[in-house]
Amino acid sequence: MPDTRTTIVVGVTGGIAAYKTCELVRALVRDGFRVKVVMTEAATRFVSPLTFRTLSAEPVAVSLWADEPDAKVHHVSLAEEADVMVIAPCTANVIAKIAHGRTDDMLTATVLATEAPLIVAPAMNVHMWRKDVTQRNVAALKARGAVIVEPGRGELACGDVGEGRLAPVEEIAEAVRTAATRSRDLVGKHVLVTAGGTHEPIDPVRFIGNHSSGKTGFAIAEEAARRGARVFLVTGPTHLPDPFGCEVVRVQTALQMRAAVLARADACDLIVMSAAVADFRPAAAASEKIKKADAPGAISLERNPDILAELGSRGGKAVLVGFAAETSDVEANAKTKLEAKGCDMIVANDVSDPELGFGTEDNRVLLVSRDGVERLGMMPKKQIAREILNRAAALLGSERAR
Ligand code: CTP
Repeated sequence: MPDTRTTIVVGVTGGIAAYKTCELVRALVRDGFRVKVVMTEAATRFVSPLTFRTLSAEPVAVSLWADEPDAKVHHVSLAEEADVMVIAPCTANVIAKIAHGRTDDMLTATVLATEAPLIVAPAMNVHMWRKDVTQRNVAALKARGAVIVEPGRGELACGDVGEGRLAPVEEIAEAVRTAATRSRDLVGKHVLVTAGGTHEPIDPVRFIGNHSSGKTGFAIAEEAARRGARVFLVTGPTHLPDPFGCEVVRVQTALQMRAAVLARADACDLIVMSAAVADFRPAAAASEKIKKADAPGAISLERNPDILAELGSRGGKAVLVGFAAETSDVEANAKTKLEAKGCDMIVANDVSDPELGFGTEDNRVLLVSRDGVERLGMMPKKQIAREILNRAAALLGSERAR
């Protein structure tokens, strides 16, 4: 029978606090989690793999070079099994390595390969902790969405006094529990996500389109699938590959997107409309390529239906999240759209800033709901996806007025 328990991958690095990780593993096992430990070579100098193997009742990974020749690529399988990954204690060296995407051992390779939320509990000498370079590496991890369980102050094993002690085991366990709850909070839910821009044909080779890359919508779909939802992703043309675990419907036009959305909307608990749907289409698309000699002086346009507004006015059971791309008065326009389109939340961004928005990896958005306005800092689109789903998941369980 497959093991359906939530899997916590516990990474242990070479610091004296590694002995406290035994207590962490015990606490997590007691909570009913399946715990898999991965150690660096240095960590094995402090605690034997046998100790963790006994506490977790699972094999302990140390070497990248799997002992069983027919085993799956081990760091990838461990990365995929992880619902949450926690590194405790995490040395300055390992923080630096993962901040720079290095993968020269089993632990760091697993960190890079996993999509699971990452919790890092640093422990080191106070001077190492305070160094600019360490703080910059920690900031880089935070910016990527890692939760840092800050080290405490006190007497350190080296004799110095200051911050650098591993946070209390219970605090780390609590961070793991929170992340674990979140990591499977969409089990049994149906989620529909739209992404990308639509292409409205002028003739068989030309179209009216926009700069949407689809990255945010794809990140939301992938994250929702990871959190256990059945996900339908309806996307306009994009070069992005199908996200893992999603049912993908690729469309070209707003009318096709509308049909694909309406066919699935009633079955859904959450609908996130991140697509940049073209508001207008050429009134008549030519069936043959238009020769330049015959080019019309103007193209007459027709309004496309507003899919989001249509869903909002139908009022179904689904939590409805819309997007607003604005170039000015972002907050006021988003509030107006929240009401006008009957949404539960609007994710608004300022597309006038050339550094942000379409095609970029990072973005800065406002989350506008009836509970108020939340301004998120600059962050990767994958983290924005997580933040949006955190809020949407909370709305799923609450009484909504719209
Ligand atoms: N949207 C939609 N159907 C359309 C146009 C937009 O479903 N025909 C949805 C988008 O997916 C997005 C939201 O509406 O979630 C906001 O679109 P926005 O870019 O703000 O444009 P408009 O709503 O058309 O508003 P305006 O152009 O007036 O700013």
